[in-house]
Amino acid sequence: MSSIEVIGGMRLKGEVKIQGSKNAALPIIAATILNKGISVLKNCPKILDVLHMIKILEELGCETSWEGDTLYVDSTTLLDPIVSEESVRKMRSSILFLGSLLGRCHEATIAYPGGCSIGKRPIDYHLNAFRKMNVEETFTGSDNHIIYCRTNQIIGNDIFLEFPSVGATQNIILAAVLGSGVTRIFNAAREPEVTELCNYLIKAGAKIYGRGTSFIKVEGVQSLHDVEFTLSSDRIVAGTYMTAVAASYGDVVLRATPVRHLDSVIRQLKRIGCNIAITEDNVRISNQGRLQPIVGLSTQPYPGFPTDMQSQMLSVLCLAEGQSTILEEIFESRFQNVYELRKMGANIELDTRQNKAIVTGVDKLTGATVKSHDLRGGAALVIAGLAAEGKTIIQDTTNIDRGYEDICRDLSELGANIRYRIEIAS
Ligand code: UD1
Repeated sequence: MSSIEVIGGMRLKGEVKIQGSKNAALPIIAATILNKGISVLKNCPKILDVLHMIKILEELGCETSWEGDTLYVDSTTLLDPIVSEESVRKMRSSILFLGSLLGRCHEATIAYPGGCSIGKRPIDYHLNAFRKMNVEETFTGSDNHIIYCRTNQIIGNDIFLEFPSVGATQNIILAAVLGSGVTRIFNAAREPEVTELCNYLIKAGAKIYGRGTSFIKVEGVQSLHDVEFTLSSDRIVAGTYMTAVAASYGDVVLRATPVRHLDSVIRQLKRIGCNIAITEDNVRISNQGRLQPIVGLSTQPYPGFPTDMQSQMLSVLCLAEGQSTILEEIFESRFQNVYELRKMGANIELDTRQNKAIVTGVDKLTGATVKSHDLRGGAALVIAGLAAEGKTIIQDTTNIDRGYEDICRDLSELGANIRYRIEIAS
């Protein structure tokens, strides 16, 4: 079991470069099988989720290699369009292979992704859309948990999403680019990572209109071609480090920051009292005094405040001068950190009916042994540890490695007293 030890109380200072975007990399890696050729992905983060997606590509018969932070994928050869059950269990994003395999092979077999620690996470929007695009599905396996999808031809259609789901929008686009006719997605997700997928596909020859808006139109093309693409920086990693600076009363410059995509986060950090100065893609953030609370912070689809920043902001607001409220509107069980932060002296009440946390700021947090339940929750506990008095041990930190290349390296460079510990189970 891996864990991280943080001795709190150091003010973060210095400069750090933001890694490539996880949420852009994953759908684009799924998309690489559509061009039957070479994709060169620059600024690709070396994180566990990316390594899992690469493993699936290799299981499918593709060849991959790294040169620094550039990932090369050759998808000329594809064997069986089957994503193993183990891969789906390791990573939900593997569901994005359903769209791209249908596009490339007209069939795909994948296990039904179960819920995870942050919520049920169904895929009904994905499957309903595929049905409208001339795809038939059959459920097999012991408890019908294997989905087999097939089509003789993806046929474009009008798809109305009940909610602007990021994964469903991406999966529909992936299935539609090599289909026949026109697919129109109404109430599409506007997240930058959807735009990023469209940018990659357009560069490879796809015809997609309306990226970044809630109406996306895909005109099917015969084939895609080789492509070289540079991934943008990770807005959630940047946001995480900004909250770390806020909680530790630091003064840091973040380089290669996707400033435009962080508007809602920057707005809230200014609101609680952080100083933020932006020069091109450099963000200098500092915090001198006690933070102010926020009443009515709620997570929303982009361009609203991201659910992926909720846990980090919760850690910060534990130390604000007064009462804050956070409403989680995207996932139904993304407040497990409440129980962990309470071990560190936080004063948080949970209204489970409304999925709302009521946080009364305390003067200080105290180090404790806590457990990381999910990727962003784990990072948020690191932030709490940086601000706490004494030693915090965060257990089960493998899920932090899913999205952060090396959180200990980055924060150590900024002066934090933080290190990985390998615990041997007895
Ligand atoms: C979501 C986040 C995304 C984040 C990612 C990882 C939103 C809108 N999406 O993307 O920003 O990076 O998690 O943490 O913030 N839903 C259904 N049926 C479906 C698909 C989704 O009911 O078929 C529901 C989900 O349960 C959830 C909501 O729609 O309540 C948004 O889900 P979706 O955007 O699809 O999730 P992800 O793609 O995982």
